[in-house]
Amino acid sequence: MTNIITIAGQKGGTGKSITSVNLAASLALSGKKTLLIDCDPQACATQWCGIRDLDYTCDITRVLSGRAKVVDAIVNTRINALSIMPAGFNLFQVALKLAKNSGNEKLLRFFLKDIEDDYEYIIIDSPSSYSFLSVTAMTAADRLLVCMSVHHNAIEDFHCLLQMVKYIRVTHEVPLKIAGLLFNRCDTAKQIESFMENQNLSDAKELVFNTFIPHDAAIKNSRELKIPVALHDIKSPAADAYLRAAGELDFFFKERGVL
Ligand SMILES: Nc1ncnc2c1ncn2[C@@H]1O[C@H](COP(=O)(O)OP(=O)(O)O)[C@@H](O)[C@H]1O
Ligand SMILES: [Mg+2]
Repeated sequence: MTNIITIAGQKGGTGKSITSVNLAASLALSGKKTLLIDCDPQACATQWCGIRDLDYTCDITRVLSGRAKVVDAIVNTRINALSIMPAGFNLFQVALKLAKNSGNEKLLRFFLKDIEDDYEYIIIDSPSSYSFLSVTAMTAADRLLVCMSVHHNAIEDFHCLLQMVKYIRVTHEVPLKIAGLLFNRCDTAKQIESFMENQNLSDAKELVFNTFIPHDAAIKNSRELKIPVALHDIKSPAADAYLRAAGELDFFFKERGVL
């Protein structure tokens, strides 16, 4: 059975796309057959995997608009166990049309049933801010992995996200839950502990991943090279952190199951 995880977080720049790409790559490098889905018209995940327009004929836009099957919109990457469903800017226009009917927020979840046993993990990158596409990405998932930063106020964002989870559970009748909070650009566990206390988020402490992602120049370099950080410099602190985060996520699913 596939574990479908959407990388969520309202603020732009918290590291959703880098986490989607590098977590998916790390799961694949650990031997898990993984599909990365780009559900953002900015197409950062697609570009970061080095996928160019000429590498594919179908993408997520064609799938959501009912003009292609999911399997036809999946492209191989340079990591054997990692495939990607790419996105392009035309996703923005199609999303505007689809957003007119709230039932369409469930389309991706519905289409993914065609490949539900083909992958161990499906990781979905979602856009910042709450829009048709972010709700689509969250509705398709069993669990959310929330990207957090100690560098901005989080309490309102977090409560808004909890309300969104409630909206999706009730409106679309899906058992969506939060798998965990992953801190990015962070130096020490102590920093996270004080942040959770200062932000009145102590109740959510058990959701915080033990692994945190440090600020690391290797991230910027790997982005320029359009490869996951583990392929750029496996010994870098960021590559090591994402491999550990993938292990922690896998342990979470093995221990607790999805529901
Ligand atoms: N841990 C990090 N170390 C170095 N650069 C980072 C780190 N996290 C994010 N960045 C940089 O910040 C920018 C925004 O990250 P991104 O993943 O695109 O955010 P989001 O998808 O949440 O908008 C990217 O250019 C990325 O290179
Ligand atoms: Mg992004």
